[in-house]
Order: sequence, then C-alpha cells, then structure tokens
Amino acid sequence: MDELVTDSEPVGKPTSVSRITLSHIMTAGDTNLLGTVHGGVIMKLVDDAAGAVAGRHSGGPAVTASMDEMAFLEPIRIGDLVHVRAQVNWTGRSSMEVGVRVLAERWNESSPAQQVGSAYLVFAAVDEHGKPRPVPPVLPETERDKRRYQEAQIRRTHRLARRRAIKELRERRAAEGLDDA
Ligand SMILES: CC(C)(COP(=O)(O)OP(=O)(O)OC[C@H]1O[C@@H](n2cnc3c(N)ncnc32)[C@H](O)[C@@H]1OP(=O)(O)O)[C@@H](O)C(=O)NCCC(=O)NCCS
Repeated sequence: MDELVTDSEPVGKPTSVSRITLSHIMTAGDTNLLGTVHGGVIMKLVDDAAGAVAGRHSGGPAVTASMDEMAFLEPIRIGDLVHVRAQVNWTGRSSMEVGVRVLAERWNESSPAQQVGSAYLVFAAVDEHGKPRPVPPVLPETERDKRRYQEAQIRRTHRLARRRAIKELRERRAAEGLDDA
C-alpha cells in the first residue's frame, strides 16, 4: 500500500512502507575484550536501521532523540550474520518511535535466525534548521502492528511522566537552595 493522500496533504503512511532489514556479517574488528561482539557495534546498527526507517517514514532528515530499552538477549559471535529489523511503531506530531529486533544466524549454516536483542528509539523529524517538523501518522496494518502502536503509546506516556517528574524534582531542589554541582 502506498502513502495515502487527500488533495495534496499526506494523511498517513502504512507501517510496511518504511520497514527495513539491515544485514551485516560480524568480523574480528567487531569484538569486545571477551571475544564476542561489542554491544556498541550492535547499537550503531540499530541506530542506522532505525534512522533509515525514520527518514523513509518522515520523507526527510530525522535525528535520534532517545534510545531506550536496548536489550541484549544472547551473545553475538564472529561469523554471525546479524539482521536488524526496524519499523515505525508510533508517530506523534514530529516524533516517531521506531522498534528494532536484532536476529543472528551463523553465516554458513541453514539453521533459523534467533532473536538476540531489541530496542526502542525515538526520532524527531527535523527541517533544514534542525527544528522539529510534522510527520505523517503511521497507519498500523496488522494486529501485531496495532499491538506495537498501543505499547509504544504506553512507553511514550511513561517517558513524558518520567521526564516531568525529574524536572519537577530538580526545580524543587533548586528552590530549596540545594546545590549538587
Ligand atoms: C530531538 C530534538 C530535535 C528535539 O528538539 P526540541 O527543540 O526539544 O523539540 P520538542 O521538545 O518539540 O521535541 C520534538 C519531539 O521530539 C520528542 N522528544 C524530544 N526529546 C525527546 C526525548 N529525549 N525522548 C523522547 N522524545 C523526545 C518530543 O516529545 C516531541 O514529540 P512530538 O512532536 O511528537 O510531540 C533536539 O533535542 C535535537 O536536535 N537533539 C539532538 C539530536 C541528535 O543530535 N541526535 C544524534 C545524532 S542523529
């Protein structure tokens, strides 16, 4: 399904339009001191895949605002073929939550890929001045997409509440003259 358009204004984009998979074979340069793949290497792939999805969905530049709930479920080894699957789970006014699943399989075996990680990232679409710009709403297609949309709304509510609570705490402490600098 293509982008839905009324007159000239885009009203939404189905999830599948911007979903991607980025695949990469892990080599000796990707390891940590334990000899398995460095978490930061995976985080970069996750950010790359999510950034491509956010750019495709929003039709222009988008920056990472936050990455949370990055989970590493199993170690990844040299010679693993890693697949990073990303899609827009939810859209706000200018922000998008991108959900990412990381799977790995031996590059030379036919055994199925296993999930080894997951993450949620928020991207903000920006204009040429780096200021937030509106994004088309995502249109979840399958029941799985709809569940992910609803779960993303819960995470959004918690992110905002946590940010507000911390800001209020800092303001209270500052008002009481407590200096922790
Ligand atoms: C992300 C950024 C554009 C937000 O700008 P801002 O002036 O704070 O704008 P706003 O407060 O209006 O936030 C824009 C949107 O992003 C969301 N957002 C901003 N910071 C966020 C955070 N830390 N976590 C989750 N969402 C966030 C807001 O909720 C808002 O969403 P909405 O428009 O859908 O309601 C700005 O902070 C920025 O440029 N950060 C640096 C990004 C960067 O360099 N990333 C790494 C390299 S790509």
